[in-house]
Amino acid sequence: MPYPFRVVTLLKMPVELLIAMLRNPASTGALLPSSRALANAMASAADGADLVVELGAGTGPVTEALLHRLPGVPLIAVELQPSFARTLKARYPAADVRHAPAKQVVDSLHEQAGRIVLVSSLPFRSLPKKVAAETVDSLCRFLASRPERKLVQFTYHPRAPFAVPDHLRWQRTAVVWRNTPPAGIWELQAAPVHGAGLPEPGLPEPGHEPDLRPDRARIA
Ligand SMILES: C[S@@+](CC[C@H](N)C(=O)[O-])C[C@H]1O[C@@H](n2cnc3c(N)ncnc32)[C@H](O)[C@@H]1O
Repeated sequence: MPYPFRVVTLLKMPVELLIAMLRNPASTGALLPSSRALANAMASAADGADLVVELGAGTGPVTEALLHRLPGVPLIAVELQPSFARTLKARYPAADVRHAPAKQVVDSLHEQAGRIVLVSSLPFRSLPKKVAAETVDSLCRFLASRPERKLVQFTYHPRAPFAVPDHLRWQRTAVVWRNTPPAGIWELQAAPVHGAGLPEPGLPEPGHEPDLRPDRARIA
């Protein structure tokens, strides 16, 4: 994107997100767009992907970082709010923008081979409970079916973004301080198979233990 357009885009993003937040706070889930540092960290977690699927692309900072970091890797950018989807299509013609619920797009890719990385800004803690539960279920089934797939998710909270079954494992891979508020980046993948010389499923890496106590809601 040429420099003057990029500056205008960067100025527009916070206003666009604020308007969406006033109209639809549960689905939007953030007052400020992801910072460049957070967007870059999310994009670098997708290195090595054959296909990237961005969930909840919003105003596009992560879309832009993904296109910059992984040129030539196909990118599907999924966004539920029509005005954001329209703007994303105009701003990032290199991305395959889908105006659809994340669950629908993830389910449609279930049989697709290759290293598919889902990069998500979905606000699981504020989404309507039914949407959150259905989306989590779809993501877990998608990841469990092939160990090379992973989900990259940021959260402003200290704990894992949502509870998962034992055959999947969260790892917090980074904390980005240059974001308002600071955000943790978490990756979710199928747990290594017991007996394959890797740690036993269910035993978290030191320092990466999500809080999955039964007294927590399913969507923590
Ligand atoms: C935190 S905001 C956007 C963050 C984005 N990185 C930015 O800075 O603009 C989350 C986005 O997820 C979208 N969203 C919410 N639920 C969704 C769903 N079920 N499927 C697809 N997108 C969804 C919202 O419309 C919103 O744009």
